[in-house]
Amino acid sequence: MKKILIIGIGAGNPDYITMQAVKALNQVDVFFILDKGPAKEKLTRLRKDICEQYITDPNYRVVEATLPERDRHQPDYDQAVGDLNDAKQALFAQLIRDEVAEDQCGAFLVWGDPSLYDSTIRILDGILAADGPVFEYDVIPGITSVQALTARHKVPLNQIGRAVEITTGRRLLRGMPEGVDSVVVMLDNNNAWRQLPDADLSIYWGAYIGTPDEILISGKLAEVGEEIERVRTAAREANGWIMDTYLLRRES
Ligand SMILES: C[S@@+](CC[C@H](N)C(=O)[O-])C[C@H]1O[C@@H](n2cnc3c(N)ncnc32)[C@H](O)[C@@H]1O
Repeated sequence: MKKILIIGIGAGNPDYITMQAVKALNQVDVFFILDKGPAKEKLTRLRKDICEQYITDPNYRVVEATLPERDRHQPDYDQAVGDLNDAKQALFAQLIRDEVAEDQCGAFLVWGDPSLYDSTIRILDGILAADGPVFEYDVIPGITSVQALTARHKVPLNQIGRAVEITTGRRLLRGMPEGVDSVVVMLDNNNAWRQLPDADLSIYWGAYIGTPDEILISGKLAEVGEEIERVRTAAREANGWIMDTYLLRRES
């Protein structure tokens, strides 16, 4: 039977790789390296560096493909996401069918951890539920950008005995979630925190965390908000893309 591994590689620093991931990397015959957009080149390079650094027998293949992107002209967001997932599922099924022999192991190297804002697990379940190629799969956890952010800022994720919410910039535009005082925001293209009344909120912001380009800023939103916006815009212009995450906290 074909075997597929979904390997979390951590969110930026090759040292975030776990021992379990190293053992998994060394079982793989063919790696699928899939990225998209302006960051593609850098993220692909990091995945190849990880393979070169941690795999002892270089007798493996790498298959690169460009991930399809959401149609930004489609007015119905849910429809656009559904279409995107269908396109990704077709691509993944084709790769597994054509590139992995019956007794071989293929792997998807997932940024951070495969359970957090990543569709690989859902896509493989979709292929198995449909009439796609037959395989078994395992998931190897990785260090998420949330853990990387809190470690670099030396801050606990939650306040004592309190809840945490992880959300997207798109959802934060509707306001600070009710009933939580610690909110992690990912996938924010629009500086959604600017919409919030900032009187008692602190922010722990990080871009390109774990990489040589890492930028960290923290403080009261009212005091550091403008600086984050300025630094973020400049970094995005300089690199052509940005990848940032932040923790918003209402101190108790
Ligand atoms: C599609 S999600 C993938 C999350 C990933 N699976 C994880 O475990 O962190 C991409 C988002 O993760 C966040 N992110 C990933 N890596 C990051 C990094 N090194 N620095 C800052 N944010 C990062 C950003 O919010 C980015 O928009």
